[in-house]
Amino acid sequence: MVADQEEDHLGLMLDRDALLNAACDLCRHHLRVVRIARELCSLLRVPFEEELRVACGMHDVGKLAVLELVSAPRRLSEREMELVRLHPLIGAVLLTATGLGRAADAVLRHHERWDGSGYPNGIGGERIPLYARILGVADMVAALTEPRAYRGGRVDPEAEIAAAAGTALDPEIARAALFLIRREPV
Ligand SMILES: [Fe+2]
Repeated sequence: MVADQEEDHLGLMLDRDALLNAACDLCRHHLRVVRIARELCSLLRVPFEEELRVACGMHDVGKLAVLELVSAPRRLSEREMELVRLHPLIGAVLLTATGLGRAADAVLRHHERWDGSGYPNGIGGERIPLYARILGVADMVAALTEPRAYRGGRVDPEAEIAAAAGTALDPEIARAALFLIRREPV
C-alpha cells in the first residue's frame, strides 16, 4: 500500500510489511541454521560450542542494515549486490562488540568458499575457520530447503550440496550434510 511506503536514503520505496516479513524470515533462517549446524557437529563429532551457536544464530544479522535490498522482489544491481555483500563484515563488527571473537570470525567468513572464490577476502580451504566452514554448509542447506522470493522453481538440495562439495563447501562437512539430508527432511 502506498500509505505504508516511504522513500529511503537509496531512493527505494520501502514497504514496512515487506521489511517486517523479511526480518521474521531472517530469524527463522537463523534458527534453522542453528539446528542444522548442531546436527552436523554431532555427525562430525565436533563439540557444538556456544560461540558456534551464537554465530549460526546471528550470521546474517548484518543484513538488517540492507533489509530493503534483501527483501526487494526483483534482481539487484551490481552496486546493490556490493552493499549486500557487506553483511558478513557488519555482523562481525556487531559480534566483536560482545567479545565473542570466534563467533565474530565465523560470521565474517561465512561466505568464503573452499576454492577461494568467496568473499570478503577470498581465502580458501582450511584457512577458513572451522566454525565458518560448518556455518557455511548449514547456511546453504537451510537456504536450499526454504522458500526464497528470488528463486523460481524447485531446487534439489542433495544435488546442489553434492555439486558444491570441494568447490564452495568443505568436502567433509558437505558429506555430513548429504547424510543429514538423506536421513531426514531438514
Ligand atoms: Fe550470509
